[in-house]
Amino acid sequence: MITAVHADITTLDVDVVVNAANRAMRGGGGVDGAIHRAGGPAVLADCVRRFPHGLATGDAGWTTAGKMPARWVVHTVGPNYGAGETDRGLLVSCYRRSLEVAENLGARSIAFPLISAGVYRWPRADAIAVAVESVMSAATSLEDIRLVAYDAATQSAIEAELSAGSSRSPEDPPPATTGSP
Ligand code: APR
Repeated sequence: MITAVHADITTLDVDVVVNAANRAMRGGGGVDGAIHRAGGPAVLADCVRRFPHGLATGDAGWTTAGKMPARWVVHTVGPNYGAGETDRGLLVSCYRRSLEVAENLGARSIAFPLISAGVYRWPRADAIAVAVESVMSAATSLEDIRLVAYDAATQSAIEAELSAGSSRSPEDPPPATTGSP
């Protein structure tokens, strides 16, 4: 089941919350900052322990969720569109790798923020298209996949993409991405 949710991702009672991290894996702003604040110092301590050299763009790795309702955080590093990292395949990889890591943990439910759609300035419409395409086309045992919007307009846009995506055949080309972020 794939749903669009309007929420602060740190409050969701799911097995895995996905974090839009950076390569250093030492916290930051946006959802990264929110997750470290809500999870507490145990999340950063686990990042330092498990990712001494950080994480590559497009990859994903797990830590404890600390004080959050979730059991684990799967951190993934999206491409920084604003810095010229516009390879769409790396953004798809964030969703695919996060699902793989969550499945290996035995998770049944997962919540994704829109990776790269904030500070990293990926055009929002395409960030939504990538999220929907990636999770809809993934072969995964996860039963409850939530795409989390931080505002109501974004939630509506995700819902529209989910209903369009469910009718779009896999052969259809992805929507053209505008050049401007
Ligand atoms: N819950 C759900 N979604 C959120 C939350 C939250 N608490 N906070 C922010 N978001 C949304 C943003 O509105 C955006 O749509 O998450 C999406 C991703 O935005 P960012 O958190 O800015 O992540 P990203 O664009 O991938 O940039 C990553 O920003 O915070 C730093 O350390 C991070 O360097 C990394 C970069």
